[in-house]
Amino acid sequence: MIADVSTAVVTGGGHGIGRSLCRRLHRDGVRVVVVDIDAEAAARVAAEIDGVSICADVGDEVQVTEAIDTVEKDVGPIDLFISNAGVGFGDADDYAASAGGGMHSVADRWEACWRVNVMAHVYAARSLVPRMVARGGGYLVNVASAAGLLAQIGDAAYTATKHAAVGFAESLAITHGDNGVRVSVVCPQAVATRMIGIEDDSGSLEGGFGGNEIDGILSADEVADRVVAGVAEGRFLILTHPQVSTYVQRKAADHDRWISGMQRFRRRLGGDGQ
Ligand SMILES: NC(=O)c1ccc[n+]([C@@H]2O[C@H](COP(=O)([O-])OP(=O)(O)OC[C@H]3O[C@@H](n4cnc5c(N)ncnc54)[C@H](O)[C@@H]3O)[C@@H](O)[C@H]2O)c1
Repeated sequence: MIADVSTAVVTGGGHGIGRSLCRRLHRDGVRVVVVDIDAEAAARVAAEIDGVSICADVGDEVQVTEAIDTVEKDVGPIDLFISNAGVGFGDADDYAASAGGGMHSVADRWEACWRVNVMAHVYAARSLVPRMVARGGGYLVNVASAAGLLAQIGDAAYTATKHAAVGFAESLAITHGDNGVRVSVVCPQAVATRMIGIEDDSGSLEGGFGGNEIDGILSADEVADRVVAGVAEGRFLILTHPQVSTYVQRKAADHDRWISGMQRFRRRLGGDGQ
């Protein structure tokens, strides 16, 4: 239960972690606005939780600003904004700087990752921080990834943009803490959603999809509960998977050793054919 939150917005609320966050916040009595590029999914979740849905591409500043304006006008002041929508595609042809494919309205994977994983957080803050400062407070929660503290093997664009998301959240917290704007950044490891190829994204680990073979995997519902607990405690860094703290300490203690270890891990995964 998060104090002083009546109205919340969750981006990427149509599926996965975002949907579980919408459900959890609704159970806590929060009025939830579900924002997603997938209009049907957003409407489905909103209907389930007696909320409101908005179809928007968070990689487009005009759409983010319009969505925020609409909520503030029609629903009420936004107390909590969770920038959760994210994308990842994997390196093309095994080259870390490669790009290719396409998604939504943007032409390549790097561009999509920058817009959705980083700029969406900037657009939301650009519109909301002045309002929150004027009202004396508010809460911004940005969902990054453990890849933003460590690395996602086989996805340089995801790794780089999630690091940027963590850096942006740090800057927000440092600059606006004195204005009453609270900031959290969420850095999960594996979560059972479509993002990691699990089509049965019901939110729980029940159902025998086979995903529990992935080390340390959590359900989206469990992650949502841990995020809400972290926000309620006012934590900046929310590590839904506690082992990430150990990995981050090892990386900080000896960066070169950490790179060697990750190279070995990549070989074990068969990433370079050795
Ligand atoms: N699943 C994991 O293992 C994992 C691990 C660490 C971090 N994360 C992060 O958690 C967040 C949620 O991921 P998930 O696993 O629930 O993924 P998901 O693919 O199940 O859900 C992502 C949601 O975001 C929406 N979305 C994508 N692009 C959008 C856009 N441009 N505008 C609006 N909505 C958009 C999708 O339609 C979908 O509903 C992401 O930021 C992801 O990077 C996931």
